[in-house]
Amino acid sequence: MKLIEAKFIQSASDYRKSPQPLMPEYAFIGRSNVGKSSLINMLVANKTLAKTSQTPGKTQLINHFQINNAWFLVDLPGYGFARAPKAERAKWDKMIWDYLTNRENLMCVFVLIDIRHEPQTVDLDFIDALGEKEIPFYLVFTKADKIGKVTADANIDLFKKTMLMTWTKIPPYFVTSSEKRLGREELLKAIEDLNQSFKK
Ligand code: GTP
Ligand code: MG
Repeated sequence: MKLIEAKFIQSASDYRKSPQPLMPEYAFIGRSNVGKSSLINMLVANKTLAKTSQTPGKTQLINHFQINNAWFLVDLPGYGFARAPKAERAKWDKMIWDYLTNRENLMCVFVLIDIRHEPQTVDLDFIDALGEKEIPFYLVFTKADKIGKVTADANIDLFKKTMLMTWTKIPPYFVTSSEKRLGREELLKAIEDLNQSFKK
């Protein structure tokens, strides 16, 4: 896919204030600091479109970006941010799940997993919750530049094995590095394919 234009549309705390659902939409979700905003910037080849930070908890709202005047990318707050106050976390959780369960043009959720770690309970629980709600998702392993290929492959294998204890199959998955622009073409191709099946 050729990227012509990526523009910021809006930030909102309530999915009901999202833009009209007239184009296919893709949301990026994952633990705080996993690299959601960085991945969006890498995909659209603009280092500053989505706000990133070394400190977890940077993205706090539902951020809509419009790509090629044809589809939406959505940057969401992270889950599992242990240091945030409980009430704050509960508010983000509700905001995220209200969005995920009600946004009618949402084609697919990209769940980001830090490739450096063995399977984490928060990620597995989040994925199980998506499954229960029948929300389609793909997996995106992030920060692949930070570890060697052997460990990366081992962690992916272990993630798949762990998932297969509760799931019958593994969804499509991508190995990415925002730093090295790894996985960009593959992700854009997946989105392009999904765009074809969007019904207004
Ligand atoms: P929240 O909005 O706080 O939930 O975080 P986020 O998931 O949006 O993460 P963000 O994109 O802000 O990145 C967090 C930190 O990880 C930043 O310091 C990024 O520079 C770094 N980072 C993200 N992706 C990569 C990557 O692929 N490689 C490396 N080396 N660093 C990365
Ligand atoms: Mg972010």
